[in-house]
Amino acid sequence: MCGIVGYVGPQNSLDVILEGLRRLEYRGYDSAGVAVLAGGRLTTVKKAGKLANLEKVLAEESLPAATIGIGHTRWATHGGPTDRNAHPHVSADGTVSVVHNGIIENFAVLRAECEAAGVEFTSETDTEVVAHLLAAAYRKTPAGDDRLAEAMRTVSRGLEGAFTLVASHADEPDRLVASRRNSPLVVGVGDGEYFLGSDVAAFIAHTSDALELGQDQVVVIDRERGVSVTDFAGAPVEPTAYTVDWDAAAAEKGGYDWFMLKEIAEQPEAVANTLLGRLGAAGELVLDEVRLSDQELRDVDKIFVVSCGSSFHAGLIAKYAIEHWTRIPVEVELASEFRYRDPVLDRSTLVIVVSQSGETMDTLMALRHAKEQKARVLAICNANGSTIPRESDAVLYTRAGPEVAVASTKGFLTQVVACYLVGLFLAQVRGVKYTDEVAAIVEDLRALPDAVATVLAGMEPVRELARSLADANTILFLGRHVGYPVALEGALKLKELAYIHAEGFAAGELKHGPIAVIDQGTPVIVVVPSPSSRESVHGKVVSNIQEVRARGARTIVIAEEGDEDVVPYADHLIRVPRTPTLLAPVVTTVPLQVLACEIAATRGLDVDQPRNLAKSVTVE
Ligand code: M6R
Repeated sequence: MCGIVGYVGPQNSLDVILEGLRRLEYRGYDSAGVAVLAGGRLTTVKKAGKLANLEKVLAEESLPAATIGIGHTRWATHGGPTDRNAHPHVSADGTVSVVHNGIIENFAVLRAECEAAGVEFTSETDTEVVAHLLAAAYRKTPAGDDRLAEAMRTVSRGLEGAFTLVASHADEPDRLVASRRNSPLVVGVGDGEYFLGSDVAAFIAHTSDALELGQDQVVVIDRERGVSVTDFAGAPVEPTAYTVDWDAAAAEKGGYDWFMLKEIAEQPEAVANTLLGRLGAAGELVLDEVRLSDQELRDVDKIFVVSCGSSFHAGLIAKYAIEHWTRIPVEVELASEFRYRDPVLDRSTLVIVVSQSGETMDTLMALRHAKEQKARVLAICNANGSTIPRESDAVLYTRAGPEVAVASTKGFLTQVVACYLVGLFLAQVRGVKYTDEVAAIVEDLRALPDAVATVLAGMEPVRELARSLADANTILFLGRHVGYPVALEGALKLKELAYIHAEGFAAGELKHGPIAVIDQGTPVIVVVPSPSSRESVHGKVVSNIQEVRARGARTIVIAEEGDEDVVPYADHLIRVPRTPTLLAPVVTTVPLQVLACEIAATRGLDVDQPRNLAKSVTVE
């Protein structure tokens, strides 16, 4: 939510910042702005709407050549998406320009204090108050190299909530200052140039050397002195250096119309990468990187999977697999609800937090709550160096590569696979499965990348189907067992991309109410389990298809190759390769991703940046 870029170095700062903002725009696209500093003057330009609007204005105005500057792309919280509310915000005296991600919870009190002192505000944002406070704090701070950092520390100590702030001061031509609490910020270190970014995408085209920052820290990037970090009290801190293993090309469209299409296509490779090096030659799991001892894993008597959105659906799938393989009870919780209902946690509880971005605020807060209650926390995450894995006891990276489209695809699929790895590893360590049983599932896991590739190769009929569904008002999704979370995920994809009302149901629940909404021609998409599934779930779902069809539904059926039972009742049949029941979501989700993407494209919508959304939700 909100993308931030800062640059100090020899290059034209506007070019570097705009390039960074293009790569960060997926984080928010309600407005965009830049501020550059040249000749002791800050020039700020900002515009409501997508980055393209700002670029148009910049093409018409010529900004002074500068080698230092900041930029922002916004997801609105306080104040609508207007030019005035766009960042950067400038202090009343014109000396400070600041960009912000997060929410300053005590901004109303601070604003009232500033107004009482005669400051006139020009926006409705919570951010503007920081510009005025920083300008005032700077005036009161003794001159010297540390003046800007000290002023920022003073301001930061008085702020409540979540914030990443990056500021430029007119009297400081060689340095930028930034501060972070609960919101993401990384530093890029180039050859004589330094970058600040909400994530590494901001500077990936320039350097892969990055520094991780901790909570409540202030960082200065300085043309001569490089990078210096302190806590809010001013004590020096040594940041953690790491190398970004994504290259710039990975964060580009590579010839696809949409990032989402590219990311869907990358799924076989992404799944293979999640498995890479984690399946041993003898069919055992090798998860050395999980920093929990065997004894800690043996002590686990309850598991929570906590996450949001698609990651929550990955957790729902994980429950079926982990409980089945380990016999440990698993509860799956929405992160935004978790800590408010006082869950029962203790030292023998394992909390698995699942987050593609590693920055989702609801999930981060749930993680912190779990740690306060002494539970062990294992993160399943895609973004290296992000906050959630850093604060967890253990981490399993999904290695999907950068996911830019707002709708999660390869991020989701690899989370599901990572959850399987954790479940199977627990079963192995605890000895609840014989070695040959684990080895058999490992073989099934090895087959997943090819199975996903097979699904993708057969997607042309799904594209055609999408065109015929583009005008639907409502589309329902049904599934049982692991097909139920797949139905939820299919409905979420459709809602967020195509803005069509969609709901996912457990197929058995249908006759307890939802069946009443089915009318002549209502499209109902049914995820059919394998005929080999336990306790004739398959037969029950086939009956459910007949029930909705008898009431006029247009049935779209996703079923395994060779499943002939569904043929008489399917108006449209989408085939997927045979896959063991618990692993089936990895293949059955894929046609639903393609369907949602193609329906949105047919409706002329922005597939990568759907309205009202942002990729990484860093506010609660
Ligand atoms: O980065 P996270 O996995 O923590 O994000 C969680 C959700 O915000 C995310 O999955 C969201 O629901 C996606 N837009 C779904 O496509």
